[in-house]
Amino acid sequence: MPPKTKRLTKKEQQARARKQVLDKVNGVTDFLVEFAPFSTYDTNDGVYQVRSLRAANLTENEKTQIVELFCANMQSFYEQSSWGFDLEAKRTELFEEKARYFIVNSVPGMVDAFMHFRFFEDDGAEVAYVYELQVGPNLQRKGVGKRLMQMLELISTKYKLKWIVLTVFKANESAMQFYTKKMGFEIDDTSPSQHDNTEESYEILSKQLM
Ligand SMILES: CC(C)(COP(=O)(O)OP(=O)(O)OC[C@H]1O[C@@H](n2cnc3c(N)ncnc32)[C@H](O)[C@@H]1OP(=O)(O)O)[C@@H](O)C(=O)NCCC(=O)NCCS
Repeated sequence: MPPKTKRLTKKEQQARARKQVLDKVNGVTDFLVEFAPFSTYDTNDGVYQVRSLRAANLTENEKTQIVELFCANMQSFYEQSSWGFDLEAKRTELFEEKARYFIVNSVPGMVDAFMHFRFFEDDGAEVAYVYELQVGPNLQRKGVGKRLMQMLELISTKYKLKWIVLTVFKANESAMQFYTKKMGFEIDDTSPSQHDNTEESYEILSKQLM
């Protein structure tokens, strides 16, 4: 009797390949071990440290500052949107197990800017999803946002993710400018505006990698 082998279908092979990509990138705790030159960022008014860590490794003080910075930058956008502002839901989301962070600080323990991102499968592709990019008001327009986006893009390309995806409020014109004019993002096919839904207060933006 011939040996019984279970050949994987093409779909199964693709699903397995996607899982391998995601397991690998999600297994890394600190991306700056491999990308050490990105551990500092020089601006005209000083040198900032950049760290890469999981939400579970944030201190309580850092979590408090993350929530405060999020509120300072975003509360009014949420309040004006159809989503409304639900701080408890946001706090839960910010510190879920899968949340990954870049933290930027001038002094250890401070949070002057942060990015919250995650890696997962979205619409059949491996993606890096930017949940938050928040630069403190005093640090904006000094290249920090661009730097953090470039870091995520570099890491995502190295680990063979296919897209970077994010959501932005239409009313947030400066962020829209930053992503579409400077960082090369486009309105994603899945964005409500691409499906005759102009009522929604947000767009989904994406950038294809490789
Ligand atoms: C939007 C944001 C992330 C950009 O980060 P940043 O560090 O301030 O931006 P950078 O200095 O890296 O800007 C790079 C380029 O993006 C564009 N850009 C950035 N902010 C802009 C703004 N307010 N208006 C127009 N263009 C802007 C510019 O071309 C800029 O280059 P330049 O300064 O040489 O002209 C940051 O301002 C921020 O945190 N804003 C409040 C929170 C927010 O809206 N987050 C995004 C939620 S989706």
